[in-house]
Amino acid sequence: MLSVVGCGYLGTTHAACMSSLGFTVIGVDTDADKVAMLSRGELPFYEPGLDTLLAQEMKSGRLSFTTDFSAVQSADIHFVCVGTPQIKDGLAADLTYVRSAVRAISPYLKEGALVVGKSTVPVGTAQSLHEELAISAPQADLAWNPEFLREGFAVEDTLTPNRLVVGVTNDRAEEILKTVYAGIIALGTPWIRADLATAELVKVAANSFLATKISFINAMAEVCEAAGGDVTILAKAIGYDPRIGSRFLQAGIGFGGGCLPKDIRAFMARAEELGAKQALEFLREIDAINLRARQRVIDVVRSELSEDLTQYKVAVLGATFKPDSDDVRDSPALDIAAQLHAAGAHVVVHDPKGIEPARKRFPNLNFSQSVTECIKAADLILHLTEWKEYQALDPAVLGPLVKNKIIIDGRNALDRELWRNAGWKFHALGRTD
Ligand code: UDX
Repeated sequence: MLSVVGCGYLGTTHAACMSSLGFTVIGVDTDADKVAMLSRGELPFYEPGLDTLLAQEMKSGRLSFTTDFSAVQSADIHFVCVGTPQIKDGLAADLTYVRSAVRAISPYLKEGALVVGKSTVPVGTAQSLHEELAISAPQADLAWNPEFLREGFAVEDTLTPNRLVVGVTNDRAEEILKTVYAGIIALGTPWIRADLATAELVKVAANSFLATKISFINAMAEVCEAAGGDVTILAKAIGYDPRIGSRFLQAGIGFGGGCLPKDIRAFMARAEELGAKQALEFLREIDAINLRARQRVIDVVRSELSEDLTQYKVAVLGATFKPDSDDVRDSPALDIAAQLHAAGAHVVVHDPKGIEPARKRFPNLNFSQSVTECIKAADLILHLTEWKEYQALDPAVLGPLVKNKIIIDGRNALDRELWRNAGWKFHALGRTD
């Protein structure tokens, strides 16, 4: 039997997927509302395919959820999947939830139990939890097994990951994890055994690399704008070199979400504590390039409309940090919308899935459930999250609805020629004409 502690994005996906592999799984969370929803087989967030899987696994009888931590006592393996958000007054990660999750289950750990951390943590956390458990629950062991799932592909990334990484301190822990993941290993998934520190580092290194790739192409976008080039052609051309690869070279308003921004910041903070500050100094620039992309969009809006935005309506298409998600954490789209609103513009935001979470974060913003309503009489449209349905919009149909036919494509995902042929002034980040 398995337990999953923390039923957020990661935990719920892991619990449902492990149940689908045939394990009995108990999910534990302190949030009673969330547990009630999950117990009804309802997903508290949007993730393609997970709703069906959750409902199916609840019916199977193998999966259940509770707020009662003592329920984990029958489990042999405990996956810790709680969040590690950025602290309020600094760059570091807040480890309160991870530490309290391990403390909450430690009285219930049976002989030979294995606690498996999946949360993204600063290097050294696993070792300190290992030492803590050696005192509070010496009958148990601890391993670290980072998670690489992408929102929008959570089920696929959990059941068919491109690698499995386990940080262990002994062979037994590795064997236990090999048993848990036997079905996934059988698919030919690479298996990497590491020490605890390396396992923790793999995750933040991977996210730092991805963030670097995105900021690299956004830096090239800035240079293209200055030099009269086209970053989309540049990205395509360099991407053909297999050493570079074409993925994660989509220039635009940059990365957001619950992982990349906070992970690179926490990594910098941890490196500084370790006396390796200089090694990660470049991540400060990655973060700065990323935030600058948002400012560049606002600059184009001002240059198209006016320095004083109070008389203008800006329609924002997209609030989530990426499509196929309702997650608005650190969303560049929503940040731009909020900044324009704060500057006095009349901003109306549309999103296929993210309106409610966005409204919670920014109750003063205006939202619209319909694209037509959102763009009505707009002075300018911002395309900020590349939902498929925005790519299917017909600019000829939208033209008569707006005041000015001006659109800024913040994701380089719309068909520029199509919009221009329909009479629109079309701007895209990193593309000059
Ligand atoms: C990321 C990692 O990909 C995943 O492995 C890790 O487990 C969690 O963090 P996720 O946050 O779901 O996953 O999003 P991802 O698909 O990586 O996108 C992150 C951000 O980068 C999004 O805001 C996206 O719009 C942006 N992005 C991505 C770009 O701006 N350009 C690109 O080329 C790719």
